[in-house]
Amino acid sequence: MCGITAYIGDRDAYPIVVNGLKRLEYRGYDSSGIMMYDGETIHLSKTKGKVSDLEEITENDPKRKVGNIGIGHTRWATHGVPNDVNSHPHFSESENLVIVHNGIIENYDTIKKELISRGYSFRSDTDTEVLINLIEEIKKNEGCKLGKAVQLALTNVIGAYAIAVFDKTKPNELIVARLGSPIAIGVGKDNEEFFVASDASPFIEYTKEAIYLEDGELAIIKKGRKIKVRKIEDDKLIDANIQELQMSLDQIEKGGYDHFMLKEIHEQPKAITDTYRGRMLADQGVIRMSGIDDNLSKFLNANRIIIIACGTSWHAGLVGEYLFEDLARIPVEVEYASEFRYRNPIITPNDVVIAISQSGETADTLAAIKLAKSKGAFVFGICNVVGSSIARETHAGAYTHAGPEIGVASTKAFTTQITLLSLIALKLAKEKGSLSKSAVNTYLQTLQQIPSQVESMLSIDDKVKEIASVYKDAKNCLYLGRGFNFPVALEGALKLKEISYIHAEGYPAAEMKHGPIALIDENMPVFVIATKTGHYEKVVSNIQEIKSRSGKIIAVVTEGDVTVKEIADHVIEIPETEEPFTPLLTTIPFQLLSYHIAVMLDKNVDQPRNLAKSVTVE
Ligand code: F6R
Repeated sequence: MCGITAYIGDRDAYPIVVNGLKRLEYRGYDSSGIMMYDGETIHLSKTKGKVSDLEEITENDPKRKVGNIGIGHTRWATHGVPNDVNSHPHFSESENLVIVHNGIIENYDTIKKELISRGYSFRSDTDTEVLINLIEEIKKNEGCKLGKAVQLALTNVIGAYAIAVFDKTKPNELIVARLGSPIAIGVGKDNEEFFVASDASPFIEYTKEAIYLEDGELAIIKKGRKIKVRKIEDDKLIDANIQELQMSLDQIEKGGYDHFMLKEIHEQPKAITDTYRGRMLADQGVIRMSGIDDNLSKFLNANRIIIIACGTSWHAGLVGEYLFEDLARIPVEVEYASEFRYRNPIITPNDVVIAISQSGETADTLAAIKLAKSKGAFVFGICNVVGSSIARETHAGAYTHAGPEIGVASTKAFTTQITLLSLIALKLAKEKGSLSKSAVNTYLQTLQQIPSQVESMLSIDDKVKEIASVYKDAKNCLYLGRGFNFPVALEGALKLKEISYIHAEGYPAAEMKHGPIALIDENMPVFVIATKTGHYEKVVSNIQEIKSRSGKIIAVVTEGDVTVKEIADHVIEIPETEEPFTPLLTTIPFQLLSYHIAVMLDKNVDQPRNLAKSVTVE
């Protein structure tokens, strides 16, 4: 979590760093700070709150904005409550060194005690201040340069980090390093300027050339010189690979929408198309995916597929379970990465593990991948962010190509993950012969209709808004679904709670009678997915049970439904499709509903409290 930015060059650093922080607020936004060096003095400005709060401070004191070198931070608190003092950047004891840090130093307490015994004192409760003082202590004792001191300090810490360090006595230089948290370095023309950030979005308008540091690497960045990248472990110099960035500025801006979440909901027809573009030739029944084609025997001979993920990606994984088992007849287990990694799971070289992650940086998923690899499993990644840690750590994989997802609540990542899982399941079904050629063709042609059907779902926005206005003050909500749509019920509940803070639970519809039914009264809105193809009659019975206990029913049904319409308080229709693809449609009204309720309740839709987009801590 946390976002870091830095600039060194000839331009004014302040707008670059501060605007960069705004683009990184999806990573954390409980406090923020910036260091500017004006050639003589370091100005440290930091505050609890968002980057806009930070701007108020600097607005009132313009000297805080001066200089061609700056580093900034937007925080998601781990050690120490969000307040001004714990905000980054942090000074070293001498106030010559300054650091920003994304990650956790697990052995900070031991190091802190040692430093205190050597006379150091600490202003904040953070692990980061411990690290910068360790660097200072090593630099003093060894009489070495900053880069070497950072390298030696990092060999002493346990944990995860992406850091940027500045030394007032060597102001033409920045040191950055990573282990477990991402860092990208934008390279300006002729090495005359450099940009540092947790992802490339803060510098996309300045340069298309970037170096993504690998885990365990440290870079010495000096204005006018080629970047030197070294291994932290043994100080060995390595060749840094400069990549051409594909991202464009309009992809990371709101494009006329009030919120990124709404923009991303509306981008789904295109995002889904981009996911299958070039991979599926529906007319010919062909599915081509190099990550699968090159490893086909591993999938076809697998004892089982284990899907690991967190949050919304885990919900997509659950849909994947239904897809793989139903279409390709391969046994699947879906695991929370955070549980899987700590429960000594039984994994064999005959297992195929699929890791799903939008950001590609989720710490628990990354650790679970490493565990599965160590036990000999083949690990396939489904990520959205190109070049992310998970994309690099897996043996093979496929990108969803959803484009940047900035809103903290995941929307297009979910539908594109399901699209990709559908393609893989159909590919394996075809290769295994568990589906006939003509059945595969029918599925592919149906899948091709999904983007336009999602488009038509988006046009019901006004209706969803009306429903949102009726239920916006509810204290609790239930979401029910069966089969392929059980994960959609979970996802619908998650969307509502994370952005509107209304308590919501998702259940398989038939589980209601085993407990949750006790909650039903006239104040309980129940959102039920009752599509024609998924155990319709059984779900209708569940709806009757809710109705007879005075619950309010908002049902998502297939176009032309008659029965549920007569019982439910509100119905939302989806176009007809094959049952495995219904989640791609049923999820849309729930996304819109959560969005509108959150807006009506005046919540911060794109940056809900306590959350961050990229969860790079355990
Ligand atoms: C919910 C949400 C989170 C993420 C989860 C995993 O809207 O965004 O639950 O899905 O933190 O993140 P990724 O997919 O980046 O691994």
